[in-house]
Amino acid sequence: MQFIDLGAQRERMGDRLKAAIDRVVESGRYILGPEVGEFEQKLAVYVGSKHCIACANGTDALLLPLYASGIGPGDAVFVPSFTFAATAEVVALAKAEPVFVDVEADSYNIDIASLEAAISMVKAEGRLKPKAIIPVDLFGLGADYAAIMKIAEREKLMVIEDAAQAIGGSVEGRMCGSFGAVGATSFYPAKPLGCYGDGGAMFTNDDALAAKLRSFAFHGKGETQYDNIHVGVNSRLDTIQAAILIEKLAILEEEMVARQVVAKRYAEGLGDVVKVAEVPAGSRSAWAQYAIETSGRDALKAHLQEQGIPSVIYYVKPLHEQVAYRHFPQAPGGLPVSEALPKRILCLPMHPYLLTDDQDRIIAAIRNFVGSNSARLAAE
Ligand SMILES: Cc1ncc(COP(=O)(O)O)c(C=O)c1O
Repeated sequence: MQFIDLGAQRERMGDRLKAAIDRVVESGRYILGPEVGEFEQKLAVYVGSKHCIACANGTDALLLPLYASGIGPGDAVFVPSFTFAATAEVVALAKAEPVFVDVEADSYNIDIASLEAAISMVKAEGRLKPKAIIPVDLFGLGADYAAIMKIAEREKLMVIEDAAQAIGGSVEGRMCGSFGAVGATSFYPAKPLGCYGDGGAMFTNDDALAAKLRSFAFHGKGETQYDNIHVGVNSRLDTIQAAILIEKLAILEEEMVARQVVAKRYAEGLGDVVKVAEVPAGSRSAWAQYAIETSGRDALKAHLQEQGIPSVIYYVKPLHEQVAYRHFPQAPGGLPVSEALPKRILCLPMHPYLLTDDQDRIIAAIRNFVGSNSARLAAE
């Protein structure tokens, strides 16, 4: 059993992927070939954003909007602590300071009260200038954009949506990636829309910002490649990866439907014995991960492993406790949810091709573990 079965997807797609790769190899247009533009247009339509600018990875997709907006030394960027390192890393790379905010216990996304408190703290201290928020759509579930955008407008903060895990997810009918001034995503192979290497993209409705992002991704180019108007970087999506992504985007919606079925089966099979993921009404998760929470998590993980069932702990330590980030500011009142989750969370196999029999085996193994350890778990 695989945690994420990319082989099953490859098999299902038959020769389409190979043919797409062969076409690029034979064309010789390895950098910025026509597939890159075609993919950008198709993904912009899917996400519902005016512009899609492909880049080399999801980390650059977060970093380039900071560069393009001049966010840097003396600026504060509010980020959740319970996320992948890249969300805060880009802020530090831009020489601004990440300010760590707690997450909600149910959605695992940025906590609005903690965000408000962190903004007030930074304003009262006066050392940093509040400039932006990077909400993360963790595990594929969109953050609370109604509340976030209200705060951002009031405080004049830029919102950069970290939708690295959430392409295919939606909030109130709007696709993840389309929120804020810029949405950023990753095509890392295990993501809901993944390629066969590194890749990423940025989304925006703002024409001027789109032009700037494209420039920063291409050595700060102006009118031509040899006209440099910004200090930029080299961040492009390879043509081969774009060709692969065009094929995978064509089946993404079908895969999303299949992921919802898997998630529903987990919720129905496990909801009475462990804490299962909750999706607010009006949202669709892209189910990049299916997380459960329980006491006795380490013993459960070992129990699953004994039965050949893979599981992963995302994330073992929140960012505000990591050596590289612990000196940055934190929201007042501490980050209790971000600190408690790493002890309880466990992500189960989740992909569109998970066989019902395999899923039932996972559910039975967890029920069996909880049943035979109920007295001990209740005491923990
Ligand atoms: C929440 C989040 N942000 C950013 C990234 C960075 O993406 P990449 O690995 O493509 O640089 C990832 C994934 O790896 C992620 O999960």
